[in-house]
Amino acid sequence: MKDLIIAMDFPSKEKADEFLINFKGQKLFLKIGMELFYKEGPQIVKEYKKLGHKIFLDLKLHDIPNTVKSATKSLIDLDVDMINFHISGGFNMLKEANEVIINSNKNIIALGVTMLTSNDENIMHKEIKIDNNLSLNDVILSYANLAKNAGLQGIVCSALEVPKIKENLGENFVTVTPGIRPKSSQSDDQKRVVSPSDARNLGSDYIVVGRPITKSENSLDAYRKIKKEFLGE
Ligand code: C5P
Repeated sequence: MKDLIIAMDFPSKEKADEFLINFKGQKLFLKIGMELFYKEGPQIVKEYKKLGHKIFLDLKLHDIPNTVKSATKSLIDLDVDMINFHISGGFNMLKEANEVIINSNKNIIALGVTMLTSNDENIMHKEIKIDNNLSLNDVILSYANLAKNAGLQGIVCSALEVPKIKENLGENFVTVTPGIRPKSSQSDDQKRVVSPSDARNLGSDYIVVGRPITKSENSLDAYRKIKKEFLGE
């Protein structure tokens, strides 16, 4: 199923609610990240779920397997629809977290985070000390394989990486892609941007869009246009 996920990058629930007034009565797919979750706590997820929204809880868990497993238990009690884990946490961490989700019988999409897009190949080699012979793309593909082998349903990646991911991991491996900009809007701090229609053509399953909607003068209109362009309706 394809959908547009709105990145709710707001400092407080008050600000997030002000934004949501524009969408009265609509059921949305919202990405709640660390900023909003650490400020407002689990209550914000419960409230938005009660309003009928889907939630991607973007906390990028990364710790020893037992700790991530316990944290996952707490998070799935919130009935989130999507959560994610740093693939660099390793196979056991991913597998144990994923087992919690499977055993819950809840319909939650578990995603892996490959290499953060704020880290380029230079940082990857010089700071993170990943083998100089490996390219960023090699590492992303190898991380995606690890995620799949541990049972995860997909990864967060750039839409530009989707064809290679699908080719190697199968059409059903879910790709959630940020860095989306309609052709008319500015790219902000995103370096490699893709338009909604290009994301569709590249095969993205979900696009994550923040500022082109949240900072727009007419958020509802921006949301509708971007979604329509992505879904090709
Ligand atoms: O405002 P914008 O559309 O750039 O927001 C994109 C969202 O996706 C932000 O919440 C950002 O943190 C997130 N994200 C990203 N690149 C990644 C992973 C997550 O932009 N690789």
